[in-house]
Amino acid sequence: MTAKTAALSVDGNSVDLKIKQGTIGPSVVDIAPLYKDTGMFTFDPGFTSTASCESQITYIDGDEGILLYRGYPIEQLAEHGDFLETCYLLLEGKLPTAQEKSDFDYRVTRHTMVHEQLLRFFHGFRRDAHPMSIMVASVGALSAFYHDSTDINDPKQRMIASMRMIAKVPTLAALAYKYHVGQPFVYPQNDLDYTSNFLQMCFAVPCEEYKVNPVLSRALDRIFILHADHEQNASTSTVRLAGSSGANPFACIAAGIACLWGPAHGGANEAALKMLEEIGTVDRIPEFIARAKDKNDPFRLMGFGHRVYKNYDPRAKIMQKTTHEVLNELGIKDDPLLEVAMELERIALSDEYFIEKKLYPNIDFYSGITLKAMGFPTAMFTVLFALARTTGWIAQWKEMIEDPAQKIGRPRQLYTGAPRRDYVNINQR
Ligand code: CMC
Repeated sequence: MTAKTAALSVDGNSVDLKIKQGTIGPSVVDIAPLYKDTGMFTFDPGFTSTASCESQITYIDGDEGILLYRGYPIEQLAEHGDFLETCYLLLEGKLPTAQEKSDFDYRVTRHTMVHEQLLRFFHGFRRDAHPMSIMVASVGALSAFYHDSTDINDPKQRMIASMRMIAKVPTLAALAYKYHVGQPFVYPQNDLDYTSNFLQMCFAVPCEEYKVNPVLSRALDRIFILHADHEQNASTSTVRLAGSSGANPFACIAAGIACLWGPAHGGANEAALKMLEEIGTVDRIPEFIARAKDKNDPFRLMGFGHRVYKNYDPRAKIMQKTTHEVLNELGIKDDPLLEVAMELERIALSDEYFIEKKLYPNIDFYSGITLKAMGFPTAMFTVLFALARTTGWIAQWKEMIEDPAQKIGRPRQLYTGAPRRDYVNINQR
């Protein structure tokens, strides 16, 4: 069978470009030889039509609302698995056997403490520092402490760095939280599972016994599964681009955290909750819907819309169910924020503007209500996202480093600045 090609005509000359086919999803036109053959670049700001790499990790069908990790539907993983199983799956490409799972859990658990000296970093921050700023700094700082796992050309060091980050990022996140609320730091407790340990590092205090609520731990574990990876989104692409220069993995993940912080990306869960609080009561929803539709108003419904999903975000469905479970467990009845959220969703989903633009609730729409009910302040929401996404970033970074065709990422541009001109001495300008 002859390979499919796409013909591009430039000034009457035809250039044949190879079409590459994945296992599922849209094919891609391989434009790598375009500059050599035509002297032209392609132009796609925001990468709306550009596949930046080949990957075997995560697949999204945005029209159908499908999300697969290594081929497995997110719904099945969230219902039957746990977060560390998802980590193993993303990193290794297969579900672990019982023995592999217990070995993996053991290895992650043995890396949960951070270097004692790193704790001193925290005291240098202002008390009102945003926990995400502390995360960017402290995850980047891991490279100053774990020199023995920064050689990216050594597979063993890559593996140890991966384990360290999956294990230590929750510890750093809990430290950021404790510093934020002014409570003493709590060390990890290795007889607890991953998510229960994280909850105890956040919520235990030295003056009383803390018992992890298994329903909340399971719910948070599921939230971590939902956030673990999401294909070539902005922060993942940032991690890949940073890693393509050969930077050490801790620095690359810190770059991903910085990118995730923005309100159009991971910061949306914090923004969505603030928006629900600002709306406050159901009767004010029409006012906010009108603002979201007004071209002259920069306001957007946070937690709505997605670059890829033009259907209900499959993660949002699971998140909505989790929200109800958590509120039930905590005996929170008639939560006004949940009431506003559900009514807002109902109105938006029947509004012509949102239907026409295919704007559906995304994962961030319900996550804030759930995390708030669990006791996390809004400033921690994106930190929890970063904690879970660390695994996806690492899997994507490893895949890139292990690809023999990997080279430094270097996009080009359409230059629209001044053409060549001569320097004019300052007294003659
Ligand atoms: N509220 C009102 N209008 C919207 C919204 C919204 N939330 N999102 C998109 N639109 C409109 C937008 O004004 C545009 O209209 P027009 O075609 O008339 O100019 C159209 O829909 C397409 O929007 P876009 O900005 O071109 O789409 P995008 O793919 O560049 O942006 C997005 C995707 C997620 C940044 C955007 O939908 C948004 O800002 N949503 C709110 C923030 C949010 O919830 N982000 C979380 C994303 S999911 C988690 C994650 O990835 O981290």
